[in-house]
This record gives sequence, C-alpha cells and structure tokens, in this order.
Amino acid sequence: MRIVFIGPPGAGKGTQCKRLTQMLEIPHLSTGEMLRGTRKESALGRIVSGYIDGGRLAPDYLVMRIVNKRLLESDCQCGCLFDGFPRTLNQAQMLDEQLAIKNNRVDLVLDLRVGQEELVSRLLKRASIENRADDNAETISARLRVFFTQTAPLLDYYKGQGIVRHIDGTRSPDEVFAQIRSCVQATKPKHG
Ligand code: AP5
Ligand code: MG
Repeated sequence: MRIVFIGPPGAGKGTQCKRLTQMLEIPHLSTGEMLRGTRKESALGRIVSGYIDGGRLAPDYLVMRIVNKRLLESDCQCGCLFDGFPRTLNQAQMLDEQLAIKNNRVDLVLDLRVGQEELVSRLLKRASIENRADDNAETISARLRVFFTQTAPLLDYYKGQGIVRHIDGTRSPDEVFAQIRSCVQATKPKHG
C-alpha cells in the first residue's frame, strides 16, 4: 500500500503518519524531515536551508534524488506513507514513473483539510514547543501560499486517477485517524 498525504502546513500530516505507520507497518517518508536531515551536511545543507527557511519548495531534482534513493531500500518494497510528497505535478509524475518500474502505483491520496486560521494557530503553538525555523508568522504565510498555488492543484491530477479521499482535519487527532483508517480499510492495493 502506497499512500500520499496532501495537506497544508499544520494540517496534521506528520501526526497522522506516525499513527498509520504503526498500524500498517510500512515506513513513513517525510520529505520535510529528510531535507531537514541534510542540513547537518555542509554545502547541500546550506542550499536546502535557504528553501526551507524561506518557506519555498526545494527543487524537484533534489527531492526526487532523495526519495528515489530511499525507495530502493528494502523496507519500502511492500509500501510506504508519503508525507508532504509529492508537492508539484512534476514530482507526482516522476513518482508514478518510478513506481511503475516495479509495477507499483499510488493507491490512495488523503487530502487533509483544515482552515487557515486554525493552521496558523497550530503552527505558532508548535513554534513555542519544537523550535522549527520555519514556524514563524512570515514563513508560515509563505508556506501556505506555496501550498495553495503549487501543491493543492495536484489533487486534480490524483482525482483523475480516482484515488483521492477528503479528510476533515479539524477534528481531534483520534477522530481524524478514525476517518483515515476507514479510507485505508476500504482501499485495496493494486500491485506490490
Ligand atoms: P514539511 O516538513 O513537510 O512541513 P509542512 O508541509 O509545512 O507541514 P508541517 O510539518 O508543518 O505540518 P504537518 O501537516 O506535518 O502537521 P503536524 O502533524 O506537524 O516541509 C517543510 C519544508 O520542506 C517545506 O516548506 C519545503 O521547503 C521543504 N519540502 C518538504 N517536502 C518537499 C517537497 N516534496 N518538495 C519540495 N520541498 C519540500 O501538526 C502540526 C501541529 O498541529 C502539531 O503541533 C500537532 O501536534 C498539531 N495537531 C496535529 N493534528 C491536530 C489536530 N487534529 N488537532 C489539533 N492539533 C493538531
Ligand atoms: Mg510535518
């Protein structure tokens, strides 16, 4: 089972993936975490920090290089959860091509919906706890803009494949997870 989580910053992608990865026993691939992980490495890290701290998307080629490498690892062969990836149409098409090599595909796309006021309030609250460099008012507003202009249109691409399910992300984490669980249980993986 290969599941894509699409949702604006603060929608709960990471929170819900942490639960689902345990239930399905498949890895949780967060491109945000992977990119933040490169920050410790010198030159690449500095380039990546520029994008993340400005709330802009890292270049597709860089993200695809990291994801494709991860997908070759043995634990990803039976499926995985994509958290915050793909984020552009180009990434979605390249992911489909990569999966098709092994006769796999994305089985389900979960569209986490939360209003902007609630998103900002969650992220500012998290800023006081986790110290993420991009959780400040200015960068949050850039991240939201990027989501609605570059990532939300992806839903049409996946709707064309008939695999999008909408999730009300404003409910409690338990209630959101219950919605996700029933979507997953109603989905039969096509391959792999
Ligand atoms: P990324 O790390 O993916 O950040 P994001 O998309 O901005 O999303 P967040 O991680 O902030 O939110 P989330 O939806 O995971 O919510 P969470 O569960 O934490 O990306 C960061 C940056 O990396 C991007 O801006 C870009 O620069 C780069 N990047 C990443 N992927 C890329 C790609 N594919 N291509 C190019 N660039 C890429 O929840 C948020 C808070 O709300 C938490 O405090 C949580 O406890 C709380 N919360 C969660 N659920 C609920 C609930 N139901 N009720 C109340 N509170 C809740
Ligand atoms: Mg996250």
